[in-house]
Amino acid sequence: MDRVIKKAVFPVAGLGTRFLPATKSNPKEMLPVVDKPLIQYAAEEAVEAGIKELIFVTGRTKRAIPDHFDKAYELEAELEAKGKTKLLELVRNVIPDDVVCIYIRQAEALGLGHAVLCAKPVVGNEPFAIILADDLIDGQPKNCLAQMMDVFRKHGSSVLGVERVPEEHTNQYGIVATQPIEGRISAVKQIVEKPKPAEAPSNLGVVGRYILTPRIFPLLETIGRGAGGEIQLTDAIAKLLDEQQVLAYEFQGKRYDCGSKLGYLQATVEYALKHPDLAEDFRHYLQSYCLPEIG
Ligand code: UTP
Repeated sequence: MDRVIKKAVFPVAGLGTRFLPATKSNPKEMLPVVDKPLIQYAAEEAVEAGIKELIFVTGRTKRAIPDHFDKAYELEAELEAKGKTKLLELVRNVIPDDVVCIYIRQAEALGLGHAVLCAKPVVGNEPFAIILADDLIDGQPKNCLAQMMDVFRKHGSSVLGVERVPEEHTNQYGIVATQPIEGRISAVKQIVEKPKPAEAPSNLGVVGRYILTPRIFPLLETIGRGAGGEIQLTDAIAKLLDEQQVLAYEFQGKRYDCGSKLGYLQATVEYALKHPDLAEDFRHYLQSYCLPEIG
């Protein structure tokens, strides 16, 4: 099997109910963290990791996403006429020219597994990556997907990005039971979707980064609806475990759950404190706001 990952799938067809009403007519993946939408951070992570084909599984109210990655002729002409070269560069470089964006519609939000299955005709018979843009990951020393691609190159098996989650939060994640292999890599023995803390086999939660072999597609086609009446990617991965090795990789870096308001606000504050144009002023503001008697 070819150990090069050329394609990344971005399922962006969820309803984003935790962010209503902001997500009533706008996709949650277009929420900006400081000055960049979540989906752009995700696309940049894939491109930086060497991926050239970005496959977006979109749904209703998601038109802003293709618009964001399209050429913006009028805006570019306007910025050019006004000599705003720095902004022009920002707008032009949203995605490099040699990267292709492909859009597929998920007609009904039938779950993450179903969204991934919608990408089958474009992914074909090769291993591929999945990035959930609402998990924003500041990977160190390289981005999370690039770390996982190293694991895939070495082992040639599917890889799930995982992190330790608070025990009381196991019911928000796919949770894996594992056996150590080396360092941050372990073999997945069991995977359960959103178990109650008392029933969770561990506190290792699957985050929004996956590298999967194409065997996942026929499994997604047969599993039927699971928890919440949705076609669950976790259920198909559980079936994959019966046939192939699946690895869990504890990535290096920090994850922000931007699908939740608290995680989104944390990302906003921490990215602002690292933003070259903003960090200093924002730090002063935060100090005076949080410690008015000192500031
Ligand atoms: P979530 O579980 O976060 O659901 O989906 P959601 O609809 O996006 O948000 P909430 O919970 O209602 O606030 C996980 C990922 O799977 C995608 C979402 O876009 C998100 O990236 N997804 C989910 C789909 O693409 N299609 C679906 O049918 C469901």
